[in-house]
Amino acid sequence: MSQRVEEAKKILLGNRKNGYTLPTNNKLYPAQWNWDSAFIALGYSYFNLDYALEELETLLAGQWDDGMVPHILFHDNDTTYFPNHKTWKCGKNIPSSGITQPPVIASILKIILENHQLNEGQNTRVVQILKKIKKYHDWFIKFRDPKKTGLISILHPWESGYDNSPIWDKPMSNISVDKELNYQRRDLEVSNSEERPLKKDYDRYITIRDQFKEANYDPNKLYDISVFNVVDVGFNSIFLKANKDLLEISKKYDLDFQNLHEFISLNENRLLGLFSKENNNFLSQDLKTKNNLNIPSITNYFSLFADLNNQELNKKLIENLKSHNSNEKYFFSSIDPKHETFNEKRYWRGPVWINCNWLVYQGLKNKDKEYSELLKNKTMELIEEKGFHEYYSCKSGNVMGANNFSWSAALYLDLALEK
Ligand code: GLC
Repeated sequence: MSQRVEEAKKILLGNRKNGYTLPTNNKLYPAQWNWDSAFIALGYSYFNLDYALEELETLLAGQWDDGMVPHILFHDNDTTYFPNHKTWKCGKNIPSSGITQPPVIASILKIILENHQLNEGQNTRVVQILKKIKKYHDWFIKFRDPKKTGLISILHPWESGYDNSPIWDKPMSNISVDKELNYQRRDLEVSNSEERPLKKDYDRYITIRDQFKEANYDPNKLYDISVFNVVDVGFNSIFLKANKDLLEISKKYDLDFQNLHEFISLNENRLLGLFSKENNNFLSQDLKTKNNLNIPSITNYFSLFADLNNQELNKKLIENLKSHNSNEKYFFSSIDPKHETFNEKRYWRGPVWINCNWLVYQGLKNKDKEYSELLKNKTMELIEEKGFHEYYSCKSGNVMGANNFSWSAALYLDLALEK
């Protein structure tokens, strides 16, 4: 274990640029990504608290005036990535994408603060970080739930972080591809095509993005005009937990974030309402067609992370979780292998992802100690056996995607060294 701990630290430092850290050191992702950076900050906190805070500060430096924190920040104007900052054309000081990603920052910061005694200078920095996170959360409430339903929407599959999950298949199938599309993917030059999203997905990713570009990324317009508008269980669970955590931290820093209370209780109630007894699963919603989306995705179990106030349901979820991978050596697969959409190798349609395991583990710790320990050990063993990769086969443990993957290293540090 100690050897892997040292290796994990080296990976983070090796991927570190000027104040931020790349998801991996190869060419696949040459920029700063939103939820990657939050996970990475947690990893740093075990050996360099200043790097941890700086990672979050650099990410939040890219916050838009309206409050959005972009999913990608292109600090060094690198154009080898597609879509790069030139094609997004957002016109911000720090070039960025025009969409966001799962807001895990508040929850990560809460863990960091629990583990450390901060000095005055660090506390001052934290206050600034908290104010920006609050502005970010207010942005979600205002622009991603304009009808005040208590559930927030994502408007692009990339916002979920689980880009080509089968959850999006139906909503994506209704999108007609822009006929003028002309782009060149770069991901296939550096990774295996059978492990990456398909062309039909990319065509739609770009079509939606172009629609947003056309509307100048105006948050007042996008919710209504977007051809993709989904209330996702995993995303709402992350947001619910993030709001609970932000509220708790704010009290210690004497910040008045009380208005979050109202959204939290509405969000919690509405989220509970997405569980279907009939299907024995949480259902996401396609707001464009009003259809329910019933996919056995591991991301539905981020509802455990949200600490829902319903013990009976939590028990049921854990019972279901235990059958998600009843026949596989490695877990958790992103999609239940018994489901027709499962694909052992294709990105978010089957492989094991360390950040998903970590989020589920956080949700299990206070509900089923024994099972949480099992998950923790299995996750660490997978890494110890195979190394720090982007994703893994649940059947063979075979590694896929990028190597030296930052969040796998960072979250391994948390699992190995947590207090
Ligand atoms: C991919 C993943 C996303 C991640 C990014 C950088 O786009 O789907 O979740 O943040 O790569 O690692």
